[in-house]
Amino acid sequence: MKNILYITLFVFSFAAATATQAQEKIYTPAPENLKARQEFADSKLGIFIHWGIYSTFAQGEWYMQNAKIDKNEYAKVADAFYPHRFDAKAWVTAIKEAGARYICFTSRHHDSFSMWDTAESDYNIVDATPFGRDVIKELADECHRQGVKLHLYYSHLDWKRDEYPMGSTGKQVIGRDTTKTDWPAYYDFMNRQLTELLTNYGEIGAIWFDGWWDHEDDSIPFNWQLDEQYALIHSLQPQCLVGNNHHQVPFEGEDIQIFERDLPGENKAGYSGQDVSRLPLETCQTMNGMWGYKLVDQNYKSSKTLIQYLVSAAGKGANLLLNVGPQPNGEIPAAALQRLKEIGEWTRTYGESIYSTTAGDIPAQPWGVTTRKGNRLFVHIMNLDSKELALPLTCKVKRAVAFADKTPVKFKKTKNGIKLLFDKAPTGVDYIVELTTK
Ligand code: GLC
Repeated sequence: MKNILYITLFVFSFAAATATQAQEKIYTPAPENLKARQEFADSKLGIFIHWGIYSTFAQGEWYMQNAKIDKNEYAKVADAFYPHRFDAKAWVTAIKEAGARYICFTSRHHDSFSMWDTAESDYNIVDATPFGRDVIKELADECHRQGVKLHLYYSHLDWKRDEYPMGSTGKQVIGRDTTKTDWPAYYDFMNRQLTELLTNYGEIGAIWFDGWWDHEDDSIPFNWQLDEQYALIHSLQPQCLVGNNHHQVPFEGEDIQIFERDLPGENKAGYSGQDVSRLPLETCQTMNGMWGYKLVDQNYKSSKTLIQYLVSAAGKGANLLLNVGPQPNGEIPAAALQRLKEIGEWTRTYGESIYSTTAGDIPAQPWGVTTRKGNRLFVHIMNLDSKELALPLTCKVKRAVAFADKTPVKFKKTKNGIKLLFDKAPTGVDYIVELTTK
């Protein structure tokens, strides 16, 4: 009996100790962080910029690995990187006019090249290129001037540095010396670089990690030591959001959930399928097929498709992080600029129906989506071949108008909601009916 008592006591105290330890590890976002999360969720559109020395090859950002290049030969292109048309003001202006509220810029991609004046490696835009300008500094200053938030993409994986433990990618790259693997050194290097980014460039809206999946298939689980790294970011800038493109449900310490090429809950591209969390959501998507500039990839999605994607994301309560891949000369391709302009025309007129909204009462349907702001429910009809639309709703509808000109839209009550009645089937990119609900 006494033994059982001791065992029970031991089990309880062990459980209590474990619970305390677990509790200690629980991340509590700072008030500034919670505010930033709300601003992020309200902003709905961001522009992703993939730009680095890889742009010079015009083959996308995976060229080094896909073409099995010698890392030292690849590095020579830095000496030819002279983007004489780079103009931070022109980029930020075009992006802001599209209606985007933030930019996510690739500070260092898988090829290891740093796009800022880092003291941690000479392989950077200031020391290794004839251009010699700190583009992150210029972008940060311009973003701050224009009130656009700057997020920074940062690759966890590295195809050039020998200290980085070889993962499932990067094996094709020639010249890596795996005998020099040194995770502690690499981890310190990353943290010192992150410290620079979060110290020298003013307020940073988010750090957007990528590459976790490089060690997903390791036989011994790889320890990325994310807890400490996330804590470092939050200690340097508490409002800075941490996101990780690991294609998993968010880990402890993350502030947003990222989806790649798919809306939350969908998995057409094959990177998703994970549960949708309660954190602010973001889906990143390409305008053509590749992230980094690729000469042969002129298969741009139409502005209509992109606007509908933005609206569909909002209908799921998510932001769209839409990518552009600037050219080696520093310009955003004309096809991308044209789309940004057309998206801007749409957001200027209809943005009110998506900014600062949450996912609406009715989940995504083949005909479209809904978004909600207070007592206004926006019905976004993007694909309807009928003069009627039944809306299952539990709330009472007081008024229905066409968002564009506020003319009344006829509706009748049904058993479980209302039915909208049109003179002809709605057409256009997004026919919005605004309901006032009680
Ligand atoms: C993938 C790719 C990477 C790209 C990212 C953007 O992780 O590896 O090249 O930057 O997607 O979402």
